[in-house]
Amino acid sequence: MDWIYGIVQFVKSRLHEMPEDQEQIEGDALYKIVQRCFDEPLSVEKDLKTIEIKVSPILVDNLTNIQRRQCLSLVDKNLGDTMNRVYGKDWKLDKVEEMRDPGLVYLLLHHDTEFVGFVSIKAVEDNEFHVLYIYELQIVKNYRRMGLGSKLLGILDQIVGLVNSDPVYTTRFGKLEGLSLTVFSSNEGAKKLYFSKGYEIASHSPAVRHLRNRKIQPDYFILVKKSF
Ligand SMILES: CC(C)(COP(=O)(O)OP(=O)(O)OC[C@H]1O[C@@H](n2cnc3c(N)ncnc32)[C@H](O)[C@@H]1OP(=O)(O)O)[C@@H](O)C(=O)NCCC(=O)NCCS
Repeated sequence: MDWIYGIVQFVKSRLHEMPEDQEQIEGDALYKIVQRCFDEPLSVEKDLKTIEIKVSPILVDNLTNIQRRQCLSLVDKNLGDTMNRVYGKDWKLDKVEEMRDPGLVYLLLHHDTEFVGFVSIKAVEDNEFHVLYIYELQIVKNYRRMGLGSKLLGILDQIVGLVNSDPVYTTRFGKLEGLSLTVFSSNEGAKKLYFSKGYEIASHSPAVRHLRNRKIQPDYFILVKKSF
């Protein structure tokens, strides 16, 4: 299992190239910009009715234990089997730690009082690029395929635009050069969504290996979408 540990450490090292207090300060600045984007709820069609999804931005430090548990249990429900296969049965310990990364901004999604998903994002140095990293995009099963994921990705594009046109942010931290994320190679639905929104496999991503008569998929791909 050493190689699994190696992958986890490799991914984590890429997401931890800034000193912690710097990450926190940039997270605060990002949070202030994100707050401007969600005055209005998102409207989507469910069962032929328009429903409103409230998006609440919240800094990682202000997440309650209940909210943290809701997020972790949704990751488990949605991708737990794949996490187990790829990272081993102790994946949750690493996930809990990752979900506390300083500078993370969460977007919690509710339909009325029902928790229907979350996004977590953070500005990081990834392979020497300053990017908005999408740590998680998780939607409860009953609320999928109604355009919520697409709308959220559109808003993340807007956030990058807002960050890059904010001189206070860019003078201090530099511009964001794009967005980045990790997707399991077996996650066909998510890959289809990301590719349709302009994401590409990063040059530093693990790649498909072509053997004489078959292809070997890596466990995951790193995707990027460069700034416009
Ligand atoms: C991946 C995920 C975030 C997509 O969110 P969503 O709100 O369902 O996405 P959208 O409704 O905006 O889908 C837009 C398009 O993406 C593609 N797509 C999304 N999910 C798909 C799926 N399961 N199978 C095939 N295509 C899919 C389709 O082309 C879809 O358009 P269509 O519904 O008109 O055919 C959601 O399925 C999810 O939370 N999955 C579990 C967690 C996960 O895998 N997260 C991604 C981790 S990287």
